Amino acid sequence: MTNDVINARVTFRKSPIHMLERFTFRDLDSAYQSFLKHSGLQECVILQTCNRVELFGCGNVSNTEKIKKTWASVSGLEENAFKENLEISQGTEAYEHLLKLTSGLDSMVVGEEQILGQVKESINTARQLQASGTSLNTLFDKAIRIGTRVRRTTGISKGSISIGSMAVKLAEENIDDLKSKRILLIGTGEAASLVAKSLKKREIEFLVTSRTFERSKAFAETVGGKPVKFEEAIADFRSIDVLFVATTAPYFLVTYDRVKEAMESGKNGMMIMDLSNPRTVDEKVSTIKKIKMMNLDQIAEMVDKNMRTRMGVVSSAEKIINEELPVVEAAMKRIEVEPIVNGVFKEIDQVRLKELRKALQMLGETDENKIRIIDQLTQAIVEDIMSTPMNNLRKASEQGDSEIVKTVTKLFDYKTKE
Ligand SMILES: NC(=O)c1ccc[n+]([C@@H]2O[C@H](COP(=O)([O-])OP(=O)(O)OC[C@H]3O[C@@H](n4cnc5c(N)ncnc54)[C@H](OP(=O)(O)O)[C@@H]3O)[C@@H](O)[C@H]2O)c1
Repeated sequence: MTNDVINARVTFRKSPIHMLERFTFRDLDSAYQSFLKHSGLQECVILQTCNRVELFGCGNVSNTEKIKKTWASVSGLEENAFKENLEISQGTEAYEHLLKLTSGLDSMVVGEEQILGQVKESINTARQLQASGTSLNTLFDKAIRIGTRVRRTTGISKGSISIGSMAVKLAEENIDDLKSKRILLIGTGEAASLVAKSLKKREIEFLVTSRTFERSKAFAETVGGKPVKFEEAIADFRSIDVLFVATTAPYFLVTYDRVKEAMESGKNGMMIMDLSNPRTVDEKVSTIKKIKMMNLDQIAEMVDKNMRTRMGVVSSAEKIINEELPVVEAAMKRIEVEPIVNGVFKEIDQVRLKELRKALQMLGETDENKIRIIDQLTQAIVEDIMSTPMNNLRKASEQGDSEIVKTVTKLFDYKTKE
């Protein structure tokens, strides 16, 4: 048995968000089954969010081709789709990546809260499906504890700003009295809800639209806004002062002609924030007079600047991770040696029980109290003799002394179970 850990990931760092979609696992249960059956992994945990698709695995991690092959077949991809997009970390690097994830250091918006909940949900699902075992359960439990500690002690989550709230903040900075303006939000997905939450927090009223009116209604009830019909909303922007667009539409929803038409009706100006990637507002729209336009890259740049001003917080978070990493490494190494310790104790206990039965038979002892005392005596002798060498074995393993582990395995004739 081996507990080497691997992390294979496709994230926003290397791949545009629309590209991530291709790597997602639509049916999680069957993805778990496939990885456990075909990839050489004995344990796995899948983490999927709008910014990342990640696999943590434990077992025979040397054959990364097998992992890619399984991923490709589950997601219906060509294997070369991974070339430009996949990142792989193993061992300590994989642990460090998970600690950065739970601490919010690997997020698009550093310190955001959501990712910690998403990691918790992933390990819970893996546990329920019995896809994770001692190694990944230990690793994730530790990473969640450390992520919580980082957030509590550094305040990294405080004052972090989402893409949605940055878009609203920029609108506020560019437009006088935003509250009095007519605002339309196109989209009812995750990104749109970040905009809606921020508008609601500032008590700013807005209209919301999505292709299906039912979805706009449900969105308005849960997140806020007044639902309006999609076809009508995108056909006429004359009454709109501020437009937020956050959809995955594969074409321009906001066209040059429609905006030009609206501006020719004598409007005073319009601000358009396109949070979509790929863009759903025609870039040419920015050439129209009195139009202020910002796209996702420009909004993300502002988020990044905000993050850099909090660099001190980031380095405190990194310091905690560096302190905790050796503790995680030691715990993971201990897991490696635990089956050997348990196996040795089990074998010795069988010998003890065999000899105990023989001795009791020879004594012809029937007194329950005396039998109990003799039994406890033999147990105490075994534990006293074995506990020091076994604890030393654990320590040697924590310190990466594989020679001692090998020697003990040989001495006790312990066979590792594959
Ligand atoms: N999620 C984030 O944190 C985040 C961050 C930065 C940028 N973004 C970008 O924001 C955009 C939306 O992402 P998301 O995560 O919010 O996606 P999502 O949760 O999947 O929501 C997708 C939205 O797009 C609408 N939509 C899909 N196809 C459409 C079409 N053909 N015409 C009109 N509307 C359509 C959907 O509404 P209907 O189904 O009702 O049409 C829904 O409102 C993406 O381009 C993404 O790259 C997202």
